Amino acid sequence: MIQLPTIVVLTGAGISAESGIATFRAPGGLWEGHRVEDVCTLEALVRDPALVHRFYDLRRAALASVAPNVTHDALARLDREWRGALLIVTQNVDDLHERAGAVRLLHMHGELRSALCAACGARRVWEAALPPRTGCPACGAPALRPDIVFFGEMPYQMERIADALSRANLFVSVGTSGAVYPAAGFVRLAREHGAATLELNLDRSEGSGWFDETRRGPAGILVPAWVDEVLTSYPPS
Ligand code: APR
Repeated sequence: MIQLPTIVVLTGAGISAESGIATFRAPGGLWEGHRVEDVCTLEALVRDPALVHRFYDLRRAALASVAPNVTHDALARLDREWRGALLIVTQNVDDLHERAGAVRLLHMHGELRSALCAACGARRVWEAALPPRTGCPACGAPALRPDIVFFGEMPYQMERIADALSRANLFVSVGTSGAVYPAAGFVRLAREHGAATLELNLDRSEGSGWFDETRRGPAGILVPAWVDEVLTSYPPS
């Protein structure tokens, strides 16, 4: 029996750009004059909660008017049809991967459609603006915040991700600038464990030099073509 490669795919804001969601570091990427690094911190939430809540409330509300694109669809197809081990790790906080149908998926930077209680740690699906007048539905504390990993906080699921990277035969990075750790270090971790590495991105990223192969172009062209390649190389037996 053929041993199917174990694949880890890391995605970033570039894959949702073609759905109309702005990336973080494009020129003009300031929000009301703030750099994303100045809004997405615990210090900012304490100093100016209204500003931070508005930033995420606008993004959460905007999800209603965007839809998954061909890249999300292609990765969902890979998830459905790939019989070997696969993990999609996204830095994106939108829900476009799951709306396209991906299941083997981790949101390492949290999710817009989720709220986290800073008092009791409960996470729950959240569609409305934050904070609510009534406090946390689980413990009552007035401590609900966006369920987003702020700069300086530990991303979700790091143990599972590190384990998957240590087993991966192929690591693929799509639509990310490689500017934010620990995700920016995944390519080196995967390499150290012997994985082949491929970058699919519009521009050169900060980590491009670490990949065995890099392909430049829009994700909407590169990703469906790569998924076709993988599924053709290992057709269902
Ligand atoms: N197709 C492929 N890549 C694209 C496309 C596209 N259509 N459009 C843009 N890109 C690429 C850009 O060239 C850039 O390298 O996507 C990358 C987007 O980079 P960033 O804006 O830095 O987004 P990302 O890497 O996801 O940011 C990482 O930073 O602010 C934090 O927590 C936030 O998860 C985010 C993290």
